[in-house]
Amino acid sequence: EKTIQKRDFLTLLDYSQQEILDLIEDAFKLEENPLQPVLQGKTLAMIFEKSSTRTRVSFETGMLQLGGHALFLSSQDLQLGRGEPVSDTAKVLSGYVDAIMIRTFGHDKIEELAKHASIPVINGLTDLFHPCQALADLKTIYRLKEKFVGVKTAYLGDGNNVAHSLMIAAAKVGMDFSLGCPKGYEPNQDVVEKAQALAAETGAKITITNDPIEAVKDADIIYTDVWASMGQESEQQERLVAFKDFQVNDELVKHAKKDYNFLHCLPAHREEEVTASIIDGEHSAVFEQAENRLHVQKALLVKLLG
Ligand code: CP
Ligand code: NVA
Repeated sequence: EKTIQKRDFLTLLDYSQQEILDLIEDAFKLEENPLQPVLQGKTLAMIFEKSSTRTRVSFETGMLQLGGHALFLSSQDLQLGRGEPVSDTAKVLSGYVDAIMIRTFGHDKIEELAKHASIPVINGLTDLFHPCQALADLKTIYRLKEKFVGVKTAYLGDGNNVAHSLMIAAAKVGMDFSLGCPKGYEPNQDVVEKAQALAAETGAKITITNDPIEAVKDADIIYTDVWASMGQESEQQERLVAFKDFQVNDELVKHAKKDYNFLHCLPAHREEEVTASIIDGEHSAVFEQAENRLHVQKALLVKLLG
C-alpha cells in the first residue's frame, strides 16, 4: 500500500536544475563512501527488452551497495514478452517490488508502465531518452572541468536518445551544447524546442548544425555515440556512408580546445564513430564516465526510494 505520491525518472525534463545538481553532488559523496545501507529490504525490478552491460551491472551493484536487491528480468522470459499487457505487469510488480527500471523501445511504453505502476519507474533507455546516462555524463564533465557554465560540449553523430538527454542536461545546467549531424539525422524537433526554452532561462547556447567542424570548434568536450542504435541494425550500411564525415578522429579534434576530453556512452565501434587513437588516447575519459553510471544511479535510487 502506497501512501505518498511516487516520483518517476523518465526524462530529465521532469527534474529541476537544483534537483539535478543535488543528484550529482550526492553521487560524488556516494563515490567516496559507497556502502550505505539506506535501502535495506528494498527491491528493484529491472526489465530489459534490449541488451545491456553498464545499465544492468551498475543498477544491480548499486542496489546491493545500498543494502537492497535487484532482479534482472529479461522481457523474453517475462509474460510481458508473451503479450501480457504493460498495465497488468505494472500493477503486479507494484505489489512486490519498490521500483522498476526498464530498458525498452518506444518511449510511450515506459509512460504506460509509469502510469499504471504505483511505484517509481526509472528509464534505463528508450528510443527517445537515456537520462541515467546524461546524469553520469554531467558528473564526468563536472569532475573534468569543475564547472558547467562556460563549458562547451559538442556531440557528433546521430540525433538519438543519448543526444536528446545530453542536450536537455546541458540546457538544465547552463552548459553550451552543439550537435553536429548529417542531414536527415537531426534530433527530435520537440526535444530541441524544449531544450532551447530551458537554455533561454539558464543562459546555455544550443546549436544544431550539419557541419562537423563548426560543431566541435573550441569544444571542451567531444561526445559521440554509435551511428546505428539498437533496433536500427538494418540501416547500418547506409548510416556508415551518411555519417563518415562525423567520425571523431585526430583531424577533427584539432578544432576543439587543446585540453578537450572525449566521452562516449559505450558500447563503441572503433574506426566507425571514433578512431581507436581517440577513444584509447590520453583525452578519453570513457571508463570514468561508465563508472559514473554506478554513482549517479545510486544517488537517484536513494532520492526515489530512500
Ligand atoms: N551506456 C549504456 O547504457 O550501456 P549499456 O547498453 O551497456 O547498458
Ligand atoms: N544510442 C544507443 C545507446 C546505447 C547505450 C542505443 O540506443 O542503442
